[in-house]
Amino acid sequence: RADARLVIAIDGPSGSGKSSVSKAVARKLGAAYLDTGAMYRAITYSVLADGTDLDDAAAVAQAVRDAKLSISVDPDAELVVIGETDVTEAIREPRISEQVSAVATNLDARAELVRRQQEIIAANTRIVAEGRDITTVVAPDADARILLTASEEARLRRRGLQLGGTQNDAQLATQVLARDAKDSTVVNFTQAADGVMTVDSSDLDFEQTIAAVLDAVDTATTN
Ligand code: DC
Repeated sequence: RADARLVIAIDGPSGSGKSSVSKAVARKLGAAYLDTGAMYRAITYSVLADGTDLDDAAAVAQAVRDAKLSISVDPDAELVVIGETDVTEAIREPRISEQVSAVATNLDARAELVRRQQEIIAANTRIVAEGRDITTVVAPDADARILLTASEEARLRRRGLQLGGTQNDAQLATQVLARDAKDSTVVNFTQAADGVMTVDSSDLDFEQTIAAVLDAVDTATTN
């Protein structure tokens, strides 16, 4: 029913197809879509722009508390604004991807971002929220909780990277894996917590993955 409250939590590593799949699922269900990774990225952008030392944990935590951060939850209109700056495109730059773990591994920064994510979820009747700790920390009471996984090989293939490819590809691949390894030290998104359903997309194409996630949502919400 299009008017019933529905919260869907989706976690997974980089390259699992999480963002595009979550967005497509939100569209199919007429739900809002929250990309929590974009919030970590926006904070990283603004800390760098302000010249704050990313390794100064207290300063980064304070920056998160002070941040005027707004994010669109329309799956068809991506928009991330911090302060007065539209950072929608800038937060996808490699320099942000390379340094975002400094914010993601800062526990005080996480606590504040989790609080804001919970507010956004509470403010939307139907929402798909996606990240690394949504099924476990942000929305453990979600109607459906899904861990979207994929083999390392499939994840790197989706990123167009091969460890045995060109020197540059190998370097980038190592970076993607290193980032997940670093982030895993503070949040577990490699194993499904109790009550979380796993969808392995290694051998599924985009449409098949969407169908598998919708199936999992059906199973979770009819039980
Ligand atoms: O999914 P992404 O690549 O946009 O995520 C950016 C970074 O933020 C990545 O290092 C993982 C981290 N992250 C997190 O720790 N918790 C979340 N809920 C979402 C993202």
